[in-house]
Amino acid sequence: MIIGGPASQLLAGRVAGILDDDLALCEYSQFPDGEAYTQVLDDPGDDAVIVQSTPSDRDIICLLQLLDIFRGKRVDLVVPYFGYARQDKQFKPGEPLSARAMATAVDAFLEKGSRVFTVNIHDRSVLSHFEHETRDLDATPLLAGEIKKLGLKDLVIVSPDEGALKMAQVAASRLGADYDYLKKTRLSGDKVEMAPKKIDAAGRDVVVLDDMIATGGTMAQAISILKEQGARRVYLASVHPVLTGSAVLKLCRAGVEAIIATDTLEKAVSTVSVAGLVAEAIGRR
Ligand code: R5P
Repeated sequence: MIIGGPASQLLAGRVAGILDDDLALCEYSQFPDGEAYTQVLDDPGDDAVIVQSTPSDRDIICLLQLLDIFRGKRVDLVVPYFGYARQDKQFKPGEPLSARAMATAVDAFLEKGSRVFTVNIHDRSVLSHFEHETRDLDATPLLAGEIKKLGLKDLVIVSPDEGALKMAQVAASRLGADYDYLKKTRLSGDKVEMAPKKIDAAGRDVVVLDDMIATGGTMAQAISILKEQGARRVYLASVHPVLTGSAVLKLCRAGVEAIIATDTLEKAVSTVSVAGLVAEAIGRR
């Protein structure tokens, strides 16, 4: 039985289709005071696959409710977008490691033999906070496949910082393209210059690749820099299209050609599905 949480209904449906498994009917609504109401309407059976991204606090509550429904049973838990994963360090005194808090809360519900799957979690170190088996799946090759369909010329894959350089390298090797990252150089106390570390983007098609686009600030800055340097067309590719607030407007104003993203979060730009990747991982025991 595949259980699709409120944030991952389409992806759960796709995974169920690939695995030829039943997709449970669930109800997600709220009590009059605003608290979340969750109900699995089909007989849950002895084990289940739960698919639920956690882009919001409400989604985290719904995930914990689903886990409680399956308490005492073996669960394969898929959290395609793992919220709070960026708070994996204490940046200021008195701050929590929210990623650890999330992992600890989820882990407490899991029975022996349960497994946890994430997709391009912001930092794999977060998975060390789980007692149960974990696996982070890499959607970069799927994004590379979609980039290939664009038929871009003289392509360079650029990550907006050194953190996503590995993703750029993986995509570039699949596409036979060059890759680079935007290096930040501090010129003075308040002046930072960003430029491709090695490659001259002038006259070339560029795909900026990152794990997520949240406010769009990082990507908008990357587009502007690459355009200033004479890049021909600039595309964005990202696993998780968080796209908060006016992120899409920012990216369009910066002159993005198109945005490619996966269905770890279900948005209009989520044209690449990770369902096959998830289904394969679940099926392999
Ligand atoms: C940061 O390390 C991440 O990989 C992303 O670059 C970042 O979270 C994007 O955030 P925003 O879209 O708000 O600039």
